[in-house]
Amino acid sequence: MTSYKELGLVNTKDMFAKAIKGGYAIPAYNFNNMEQLQAIIQACVETKSPVILQVSKGARDYANINLLRNMARGAGEYAKELGCEIPIVLHLDHGDSFETCKECIDNGFSSVMIDGSHLPYEENIAITKKVVEYAHERDVTVEGELGVLAGIEDDVVAEVSHYTKPEEVVDFVNRTGCDSLAISIGTSHGANKFEPSQCTRNEEGVLIPPPLRFDILEEIEKQLPGFPIVLHGSSSVPMQYVNMILQYGGKLKDSVGIPEEQLRKAAKSAVCKINIDSDGRLAMTAVIRKTLAEKPEEFDPRKYLGPARDELKKMYMHKNINVLGSANHA
Ligand code: G3H
Ligand code: 13P
Ligand code: ZN
Repeated sequence: MTSYKELGLVNTKDMFAKAIKGGYAIPAYNFNNMEQLQAIIQACVETKSPVILQVSKGARDYANINLLRNMARGAGEYAKELGCEIPIVLHLDHGDSFETCKECIDNGFSSVMIDGSHLPYEENIAITKKVVEYAHERDVTVEGELGVLAGIEDDVVAEVSHYTKPEEVVDFVNRTGCDSLAISIGTSHGANKFEPSQCTRNEEGVLIPPPLRFDILEEIEKQLPGFPIVLHGSSSVPMQYVNMILQYGGKLKDSVGIPEEQLRKAAKSAVCKINIDSDGRLAMTAVIRKTLAEKPEEFDPRKYLGPARDELKKMYMHKNINVLGSANHA
């Protein structure tokens, strides 16, 4: 048993309260390996931003929970060494069962998501409540979810999104005791967030997605004033990375994300956690492809992972400063 407090981590409570008051959102960046973690910490230290390090079930399977826990501990020490002590949360992304959440809490996670969004309403309440009871006894915070995002949620694939019903949120939060709520207002996971048929195209043929349902968000805020809201599926799928991947032999089709100005608008509201994974994957892949194409003689992984890490850092800094507004709030 390891408490997150021994690892120098914090839960989301203070972070979210400050973010709602201050009109910004905390970045929740997924990581699976050392280079991603280095880029996240370097970017958040340089921008003086709090950060949520997210680990999915896939990341746990890929990297091992013991290693991940110690990487999170190391991340805090690394930040201090870089000259800024930033608040760091280690969060389970899309926890799929009570047992998974418990295992993470027992292994030093300071926050967990129990994703019961695909379950019938009463079952979602029951499982979320069970996780909250275990977590709160250990001062760990819990994110629940109401509404279903289109796309892939770890192993769960939904064809269409079901927007969160504002009339359910108060009952859900009161009966589960969750600390934050992920909602569905039109975001979705991955690099193909919308079908081309749902979009329009600009003069260059770039897909322009339908706007997020800010009307639903506003209604939810009215129902739950001051309550922390979470947006999943919030990569903006930058075209410069998509184009670089295509230029250097990759195959992506009809990629489209959430425009930055919509995320900026959401970050100013009760949305205080914005989840970003796919953009990191795109940036890393783009630079690795470019480097290997331009320097075919290289076979030292540091020679292509290093430049990828630098690009990732640049991207995260941009998000903290210009999109989420979390810079200077550590
Ligand atoms: O929400 C999903 C995250 O992007 C995690 O993806 O399960 O492939 O690690 P993953
Ligand atoms: P993206 O696929 O848009 O990066 O979303 C990530 C996410 O929601 C992780 O939980
Ligand atoms: Zn997600």
